[in-house]
Amino acid sequence: MLTISTTPFDDQKPGTSGVRKKVTRFQEPGYLENFVQSVFDCLTGFKGETLVLGGDGRFHNDLAIQTILKMAAANGFGRVIVGQDGILSTPAVSNLIRQHGAFGGIILSASHNPGGPDGDFGIKYNGANGGPATETVTEAIFVRSKVIDTYKILEADDVDLGNLGLTNLEATKVEVVDPVEAYATLMESLFDFSAISQLFDSGFEFRFDAMHAVTGPYARKIFIERLGAPAESVMNAQPSTTFGNGHPDPNLVHAKEIYDMAMRSDGPDLCAASDGDGDRNLIIGKQCFVSPSDSLAVIAANAHLAPGYRSGLSGVARSMPTSCAVDRVSEAMGIPLFETPTGWKFFGNLLDAGDITLCGEESAGTGSNHVREKDGVWAVLMWLNILAVRGQSVSEIMRDHWETYGRNYYARHDFEEVDGQGANDLIAALRNKLGELPGRKTKAGQIVHADEFSYYDSIDESLTERQGLRLIFEDGSRIIYRLSGTGTVGATLRVYLERYESTEGNLEQLTSDALAELVSVSRELAGIERFTGRTQPTVIT
Ligand code: G1P
Ligand code: ZN
Repeated sequence: MLTISTTPFDDQKPGTSGVRKKVTRFQEPGYLENFVQSVFDCLTGFKGETLVLGGDGRFHNDLAIQTILKMAAANGFGRVIVGQDGILSTPAVSNLIRQHGAFGGIILSASHNPGGPDGDFGIKYNGANGGPATETVTEAIFVRSKVIDTYKILEADDVDLGNLGLTNLEATKVEVVDPVEAYATLMESLFDFSAISQLFDSGFEFRFDAMHAVTGPYARKIFIERLGAPAESVMNAQPSTTFGNGHPDPNLVHAKEIYDMAMRSDGPDLCAASDGDGDRNLIIGKQCFVSPSDSLAVIAANAHLAPGYRSGLSGVARSMPTSCAVDRVSEAMGIPLFETPTGWKFFGNLLDAGDITLCGEESAGTGSNHVREKDGVWAVLMWLNILAVRGQSVSEIMRDHWETYGRNYYARHDFEEVDGQGANDLIAALRNKLGELPGRKTKAGQIVHADEFSYYDSIDESLTERQGLRLIFEDGSRIIYRLSGTGTVGATLRVYLERYESTEGNLEQLTSDALAELVSVSRELAGIERFTGRTQPTVIT
């Protein structure tokens, strides 16, 4: 075993979801090693225990996996469970940690960010519950990363990750597992696979776009092999280190191929997609885009139709910027609703405590207590199960939902890669102005409340501040501003817009029309053009 001297890097503060940087940064000697050793230095009691390890297969995944294996062995883990060829989707890692009672896991991914040698890379640590490290652990890792001066690594040959089975790395056992098997079995225990198979047999047309990313093998095994969907149902199923030179983000810009297909009048009955590491989902019915916030609400209202959720939900949670559509469902069902900061790590304690069964974010993330990550394939199966049992189309289900609960028109406007200083100044200026906003009349109505969101987690007693500026209007409309914590170039300003229309209102408007006034108020109030030089967002979702 070698103990290697190193000097700290100053940029290893985990963002919304681990440390994400350019691949080139991760290729610098010691960069990955310092972060991994900082993680191990903050953990106690893992000697002889199990670590789960895998990634989304992007460029640099293979080299990083070998380094981490040797570091895990040098630091004294007893066993490392690693996906074949170093591949595991994020929800599959979460599942393996839980199934094997592992000490924790390391996931290599930059999620939906582009891959390849000029793309992004990322790493994050998940704890024994299978979920992202809590705020407290995350902060400790960052503190450690600023003073670290040595790391431990074995001098050993690379482990062959191509074949399933056990090998030894000195005293540590390395178990190479099929990335899909355990996950597919978990899905089979939650959903009515025979109802979904019958749906496919009945001629229901389904397309899933794996975007050349990690879910390809999962989708093939589950949708085609186990559920009998026709082979052409899964598109772009071969994972590649560059994601086919694409941007594996299942939004309307980057998943345009499947979006266009869904919008045809003779298009498939359900189109879906997932992102680089398999935790996000896109759901589009025939000519009917389902916003992630609405999807969460529909799933909350219908989850009992799936066998794994037959006994109902204990509660639901959404991130603060996610629309309030699910609030209406929870109210009608008489179950608690929790509002958390952006990022999946905040759901973990609520799930562990049994306070919630279901949770989601506006950013295409939906999940439940079956793992501690959001889960793309799970969300698609949930929709298939609901469609199979209800025997209605996606658009019929949406219409029925809005007629029952009203409709929360919703959009997110992203101003990507803007100047960091300008973005920070914009937020600072708006923060200073919050006190004078309540009472102000705008063309989108009167502002009744303005604040900066903070969250107190009563389970681990942590307080997380500065989680977004929010303006609430007299009719419940909201404008929220926050800066992204996952970008790797400049800053990304996210503006979230929401307007509620009751069951008596006009439920069939175009979202862009319904939100037009709020959009214009959002630009003026924050001085977006003045601070960022931008008149239009780069992406609207
Ligand atoms: C984004 C999303 C957030 C999600 C995160 C990780 O973070 O907004 O909901 O949890 O990616 O997938 P952001 O870039 O906004 O900090
Ligand atoms: Zn992801």
